[in-house]
Amino acid sequence: MTKKTALVIGGTGVSGRALISHLENDPEWDVIGVSRNAPYFDTKAKFVSVDLMDPGSCRSGLGALTDVTHVFYTAYWDDPDFAKTREPNTVMAKNSLAVVADAAKNLQHVCLLQGTKYYGQYLGPFKTPAKESDPRIDVPHFYYDQQDFLTGLQDGKDWTWSAARPHVICGYALGNPLNLISMICVYAAILKCHGMPFFYPGKPGAFTSIYQATDSGLLARAMVWMATTPACANEAFNITNGDFFRYQNLWPVFADYFGMEAAGVQTTEMVGFMKDKDHVWDDIVRENGLQPNPVARLANWNFTNYAFSNDWDVMSDTTKCRKYGFMEFIDSEEMFLGHFDALRRMKIVP
Ligand SMILES: NC(=O)c1ccc[n+]([C@@H]2O[C@H](COP(=O)([O-])OP(=O)(O)OC[C@H]3O[C@@H](n4cnc5c(N)ncnc54)[C@H](OP(=O)(O)O)[C@@H]3O)[C@@H](O)[C@H]2O)c1
Repeated sequence: MTKKTALVIGGTGVSGRALISHLENDPEWDVIGVSRNAPYFDTKAKFVSVDLMDPGSCRSGLGALTDVTHVFYTAYWDDPDFAKTREPNTVMAKNSLAVVADAAKNLQHVCLLQGTKYYGQYLGPFKTPAKESDPRIDVPHFYYDQQDFLTGLQDGKDWTWSAARPHVICGYALGNPLNLISMICVYAAILKCHGMPFFYPGKPGAFTSIYQATDSGLLARAMVWMATTPACANEAFNITNGDFFRYQNLWPVFADYFGMEAAGVQTTEMVGFMKDKDHVWDDIVRENGLQPNPVARLANWNFTNYAFSNDWDVMSDTTKCRKYGFMEFIDSEEMFLGHFDALRRMKIVP
C-alpha cells in the first residue's frame, strides 16, 4: 500500500479539524495540519505553524514538505467587512499553494473549499437550486481568485484540483468566527439565564425561507472522496446535508432541546444586544463547571446577524455529487441536536 500524505491548510478550523479527524486514524494516510496556533484538541497529526500571510513563513514551513500528495485548502481570514476578506484570503492561498506545488514532487490533488457565496447567495435572491455549472456572479470574490490562481498553477502539471461548495459548515471548532452550532448554544444559554423565551433574532423572511447546512464530518468525507476519485478531477461539487429546512420548523425543536419556551421572530441587532452580556456567560461557565472559553471564542455576533438575515431561499442542487458517486446524506435536524449534545458532552456549553 502506497501511503498518501494529506496537507490540511487551516487544520484547526471547523472544516480542517473534521478532515484531520477523518484521516488521522486511516492507515492509508499521513496527515499534516497547518495553522498559526497549535491545535487545541488531541490529534495524531503533525502540525506546522505557518503564517500564510507571510511568504517567508510559507517557504520555511511548507517548502520542505516534499511527501505531500493531497492538499486540502481550508484556511480562512475573517473580517466583519466582507469586502475586506478578498485580498487576505487570496494572498494566503497564493503564498501557500505555490510553495507546496513546487515542493511536493508527487502531488496528486489540491481540493479547495468554497461555499454558496460562489453563487452570490449572500447578496440577495439568487437562482435556486444553485448548480455547479451556474455562471459566476459579477462581484469579485476570493473563491474566484483562489480557483483562478490554482488552475493557472496546475497548467501543464500532472496533478488535478477540485472545489467543494458547502453551506454553513456545522461542527466543532473554537475561535471559529462562522460557527452556527456553538453560537446557537451560547445564545440560548444567555437568554435562558435572563428568563427570556427562545426568540429568533433574524429577519422574518429568514425564519420562513428555505435553508440548508453542511455537517463538517460529511464535508470532510466528501472532500477526501473528491480528492481521490479520478472522475472528480478539475470539478466543483455542491456538498450539503442533502435536505432543506426552515428555521420556523426547527426553532421549536431547538427551544425544546434547551428547555425553553419557543418564541417567534424578534429581529435584533446581535452585536449591540450581546455587548454587555459577556459576564452572564462567564457566570454560566462557572456555575456549570464548563471549559473556560470566553464568549468570543464560541460565538461571533456579527456572524449571527449574517446567518439569520438571508430572507430568500438558499438551496444548492446536490445531484452532481450523487451522479459522480457520493451518496451520503444527513438529516439536518438530527445533525443540529447531535452537535449540541457533543458540545454538552465536551463541557463547552451547559
Ligand atoms: N464555516 C462555514 O460555515 C462556511 C460555510 C461555507 C463556506 N465556508 C468556507 O470555508 C472556508 C474555511 O472556512 P472555515 O469556517 O472552515 O474556517 P475557520 O474555521 O475560521 O478556520 C480557519 C483556519 O485557517 C487558519 N488560519 C487563518 N489565518 C491564518 C494564517 N494567517 N496563517 C495560517 N493559518 C491561518 C486558522 O488557524 P489559526 O487561526 O490558528 O491560524 C484555522 O485553522 C472559507 O473559505 C469559508 O468561506 C465556510
